[in-house]
Amino acid sequence: TPLHFITLLGSLRKASFNAAVARTLPELAPEGISITPLGSIGDFPHYNADVQDTGFPAPVLAMAEQIRAADGVIIVTPEYNYSIPGVLKNAIDWLSRVTPQPFSGKPVAIQTASPGMLGGARAQYHLRQSLVFLDAYALNQPEVMIGQVAGKVDPASLTLTDDSTRKFISGQIIALAALTRKLRP
Ligand code: FNR
Repeated sequence: TPLHFITLLGSLRKASFNAAVARTLPELAPEGISITPLGSIGDFPHYNADVQDTGFPAPVLAMAEQIRAADGVIIVTPEYNYSIPGVLKNAIDWLSRVTPQPFSGKPVAIQTASPGMLGGARAQYHLRQSLVFLDAYALNQPEVMIGQVAGKVDPASLTLTDDSTRKFISGQIIALAALTRKLRP
């Protein structure tokens, strides 16, 4: 059966390297797997329980529904100060309060890209920690940490062009599909 994954992007920057990676994912997916982007988490207000009490913001509810409908989620995000960006944490905080909680039981793959050497490795473990509370099934391997990303993206098309990185990412998409099928009743 075909699978549908969605990408959750942790950067709001127009020329974002992580956006370039996310943009490239559909063409890296093998036959039978479609990948589409979620809306921008930049549309979410700052989390505030008082706001939640007056009703969830529409973009939060819309994204929660898209996540629930998808077979799996691929989170593509920068590392900020050795952790995940505040905007991504804010989005996770909002989504975590929606019922049914959209990440519960959901297969999730993580990808980080950075101009630095470590490719955002440190942020991945903070993100995994939150995914434990959300009861998501975070894919363990392969870990996609794209270092020195500036040289791996075409500045004109803002897509990922580095061949070995593209192959590595394809492998993670296949692994996420295998995890998803394993979790199916
Ligand atoms: C960064 N950057 C960064 N990079 C990294 O590898 N580890 C880090 O801890 C940080 N910390 C950090 C904090 C803040 C506030 C900013 C703005 C940036 C650099 C970061 O990887 C770089 O700006 C990327 O280009 C951001 O990703 P996008 O927006 O290109 O996807």
